[in-house]
Amino acid sequence: MLSERLKGKVAVVTGSGNGIGKGVALMLARHGAQVMGCDIDVAAATATVNEARAEGLPLESLHPCDLTRPEDVQRLMDGAAQRFGGIDALVNAGAWGAFRMIEEMTHGDWKRTLEGELDVVFNGCKSVWEYLKRRGGGSIVNFASANAYQALKGSGALAHCAGKGGVLAMTRQLAMEGGPHNIRANSISPGLIVTAATKPVLELPGFKDNVLEKMMIKRLGQPEDIAWFVTFLVSDEAGWLTGADYHIDGGATAW
Ligand SMILES: NC(=O)c1ccc[n+]([C@@H]2O[C@H](COP(=O)([O-])OP(=O)(O)OC[C@H]3O[C@@H](n4cnc5c(N)ncnc54)[C@H](O)[C@@H]3O)[C@@H](O)[C@H]2O)c1
Repeated sequence: MLSERLKGKVAVVTGSGNGIGKGVALMLARHGAQVMGCDIDVAAATATVNEARAEGLPLESLHPCDLTRPEDVQRLMDGAAQRFGGIDALVNAGAWGAFRMIEEMTHGDWKRTLEGELDVVFNGCKSVWEYLKRRGGGSIVNFASANAYQALKGSGALAHCAGKGGVLAMTRQLAMEGGPHNIRANSISPGLIVTAATKPVLELPGFKDNVLEKMMIKRLGQPEDIAWFVTFLVSDEAGWLTGADYHIDGGATAW
């Protein structure tokens, strides 16, 4: 345990089996939150729960849970609220996208990416909303991307750019609708973070150099770089932060 900064808070973190979701779920629990994770990947989600258990952290998880299915997501929120007595925060980290250049991208890739990046955010927010209202407010954290602002040389991110541009715009709307209920909604736009999703593309010749060239701090990001900031967004210290997007990218989009 690192602190009791989030003591009394219940956080649902999607995609807790890998990468950013895993890093965030463990970090929130290390700061005293009770965490309900979820993932479609049962083995990965179980591994996160076991890691937490070894540290004595209060982290449970629903798996398999397919975030593109509204009924699965409703079950996740109902279960978290029942188990922990309510919900104070939702971190929508679970997502999936196809990375192909337009010439290789099929209509099916396009549709599945928008479903995997946009529907999952809608489903999470829709199902948690009533629980956050009942609690007198709460914090939603979504993931946009540096790709919502700029194209990255060599990256086949057409559908991903559309999905993340959508998350950026959705988050502002959620903040507006949430204001009267003290529900805060913010997004984070990470630069390249080393995760299960990015490891294969980092092995493509020259790609890592292209990524590092854009960064002012010359290293790739780690899930913890994001998780520290999410800890703040979930805390009461961030009570006046809503409708904003935060670039955590080693300066990549600041040129
Ligand atoms: N890693 C990066 O460089 C980067 C950069 C910008 C934005 N992001 C965004 O951050 C978020 C997390 O990315 P990551 O790199 O940690 O990804 P990741 O692939 O490493 O982890 C995502 C997790 O979500 C799960 N998941 C995917 N679709 C699901 C579904 N339908 N139902 C349930 N679980 C599902 C996966 O099984 C996986 O465990 C995503 O929204 C991603 O687009 C990542």
